[in-house]
Amino acid sequence: MAGKLMHAVWYTCFGGGVAGLKHVEIPIPSPGHDEILMKIEAASINPIDWKIQDGFLRPLLPKKFPLVPLSDVAGEVVEVGPGVTNFKTGDKIVATLGGLSGGGGLADYAVAKESLTVSRPPEVPAADGACLGIAACAALHSLTVTGGLKLEKTEPRTNVLITAASGGVGHYAVQLAKLGNTHVTATCGARNIDFVKNLGADEVLDYKTPEGAALKSPSGQKYDLVVNCTTGIPFKTFEPNLSATGKVIDITPGGGTFFNYALQKLTFSKKQVIPLLMNPTAQEIGFLVKLTKEGKLKTVIDSRYPFSQAEAAWAKSIEGHATGKVVVEM
Ligand SMILES: NC(=O)c1ccc[n+]([C@@H]2O[C@H](COP(=O)([O-])OP(=O)(O)OC[C@H]3O[C@@H](n4cnc5c(N)ncnc54)[C@H](OP(=O)(O)O)[C@@H]3O)[C@@H](O)[C@H]2O)c1
Repeated sequence: MAGKLMHAVWYTCFGGGVAGLKHVEIPIPSPGHDEILMKIEAASINPIDWKIQDGFLRPLLPKKFPLVPLSDVAGEVVEVGPGVTNFKTGDKIVATLGGLSGGGGLADYAVAKESLTVSRPPEVPAADGACLGIAACAALHSLTVTGGLKLEKTEPRTNVLITAASGGVGHYAVQLAKLGNTHVTATCGARNIDFVKNLGADEVLDYKTPEGAALKSPSGQKYDLVVNCTTGIPFKTFEPNLSATGKVIDITPGGGTFFNYALQKLTFSKKQVIPLLMNPTAQEIGFLVKLTKEGKLKTVIDSRYPFSQAEAAWAKSIEGHATGKVVVEM
């Protein structure tokens, strides 16, 4: 493929939102040692993609301009670099192109590291596979690694709260939490209450009501574990709803979260807030692919856009009202 051109969308500076995206023709990248060249079939958008464009992680990211955004992709292997042993041309795959600090997915082709690539069985369509990176891994990691939840029904019961349960991360978190012995309380907007109940939540709060804003369980549960997928909720709102050793895993950490985290460590507080920034691993993506194949996890796609309408997909994610994931199909 060396020397051939492909279609990509990139941005060249901070800011600009949708207007900052440009359709360009650029060379197809070549796979290096332990790398795979993939034809991308679908890529999903995470809020971090447009937040980076907005300067949220400035001066750390992006490392350079122009940046072809998106790192959660699925497609087919078209070429393998030297040293690749587990994949061959024609294999269907899911890959992360480096997680939060990555990119290159809003294009016809991308180079993925073999170590961040997973086989995709026929039961996992490309659009679903492309959603199993940052969002699904953040849900899995928050619950299990940081939160300590075991996804087995034989474990003692854990009371879990998931905020923004209708979103890209939250809809996975509800389903994954219900694989364990849990009682799940979830928050979402009124229009998504039935949707979130159907994902398995035991009780659902409308976040725009006083009870929802207070995160108060209708059945009086105290939460052992919270996965916070929304912004603007201070620890003092979580605190009275937590069990004696309740933990809040905050995937949208701001200054208050880092301050409370440090303070709680210093004071040996049993109730804790823990910030989480997720970089997906092949092991976790592989586990999520397996659950999908077995019918234990479903990906809900809010909207799909053809590559020519990547700007509309970007705008949809920026609006912040997706139910499930936003996908671009190549
Ligand atoms: N730390 C990490 O590694 C990591 C990884 C992934 C995502 N994140 C962050 O986590 C957040 C969620 O990501 P996402 O992909 O799930 O976003 P998303 O899909 O854009 O979330 C949209 C959903 O959130 C709901 N929502 C918004 N505000 C809410 C509130 N106050 N209470 C309850 N529901 C609310 C919306 O419902 P309505 O339409 O009804 O308002 C909508 O359904 C983002 O800030 C993202 O950057 C962090």
